[in-house]
Amino acid sequence: MGVDNGDHEEVPSWGTSLPVECVQEIVRKDPSNVPEKYIHDFDYTQTDVVLTHLSSDIPVIDLSLLSNGDEIELQKLDLACRDWGFFQIINHGIEAQILQEVKENSAKFFELPIEEKTKFSMASDDVQGFGQVYVVSEEQKLDWADLFILVVYPTKFRKWTFWPTTPPEFIKAIEAYSSEANRVAKELFGSLSILLGMEKESLLKLHDEVMQALRINYYPTCSMPDKVIGVSPHSDTSTLTVLLQDDEVTGLQIRHSGGWVPVKPIPNALVLNVGDVLEVLSNGKYKSIEHRAMTNENKVRMSIASFMCPQDDVQIEPLDTMVDGTNNERMYKRIRYGDFLRYSLQRKMDGKSHTNLIKFRE
Ligand code: OGA
Ligand code: NI
Repeated sequence: MGVDNGDHEEVPSWGTSLPVECVQEIVRKDPSNVPEKYIHDFDYTQTDVVLTHLSSDIPVIDLSLLSNGDEIELQKLDLACRDWGFFQIINHGIEAQILQEVKENSAKFFELPIEEKTKFSMASDDVQGFGQVYVVSEEQKLDWADLFILVVYPTKFRKWTFWPTTPPEFIKAIEAYSSEANRVAKELFGSLSILLGMEKESLLKLHDEVMQALRINYYPTCSMPDKVIGVSPHSDTSTLTVLLQDDEVTGLQIRHSGGWVPVKPIPNALVLNVGDVLEVLSNGKYKSIEHRAMTNENKVRMSIASFMCPQDDVQIEPLDTMVDGTNNERMYKRIRYGDFLRYSLQRKMDGKSHTNLIKFRE
């Protein structure tokens, strides 16, 4: 199914989600109100081990060194993708002003009155716009967050009716940042190609053309932060995800050593993570790690995720270079990326359970 984007191009739809209340509005009306639908049966502080002391072990990679062919940095990237599935990058070359402006304009959009934001509400047949995703039943527990999703690249997939013209600089800021995030991801694709035993250009070519979706996460404050979750544990269905997170408020936590490790913000750095596609291509050498976001009582947190994905028609499967028939058996089935993405988007998010569809063995 698709809609006309005004340029007579058919834009595909990747999924649907049931409409939910705006959490920001719930809190605005009554900061102490936490409806039943958001309250989990357990207290996170009682059930989970949070390994705060490991935060400083999450790898930090210097992109300028890496892109200049530095061998030590390349080995760091390999270790980061194998042992953590997450890393931060510094010296990425994105001007601080571009980061500032995309954050400011995203915040200004969420500060608009609800009547303005709902002009961009997700349609019933797609997940672009203002709303939520992965909501498939009236019974399921909901995440304490509001989202805004846009497909940015290829530009022919833009549904312009969902691109806000207030704040006036919003579109410009999104375009400037997204183009830089795209460049950063492509530089990483070059290094990853080498680590996966291929020519530098191979990973990018395999994508056909990178499909890039932007997801702005808005996590309102919550009077019961230990009973709700900002985003439920999941792995990303992308190849790589580039996350621009708040410089001060910690919320993201990743699975490691049997617990959850908070990703402490490094000002102006980007958080990168391995998605399901890279796990499949690398035949499980690199893992798409489960992560979640927690909320807090006093501070709104925002983050901007850019998902770098292959085109719908690309077949994903372990690379020949990663399978040798003796030591390295094929761990994943071949699947058309568009089918995998649509399958994932029609289920409730539940850790990595959506990847069972393509696994031969644990
Ligand atoms: C996501 C995500 C984490 C965060 O958008 O997929 O995992 O910190 N976000 O907001
Ligand atoms: Ni994620």
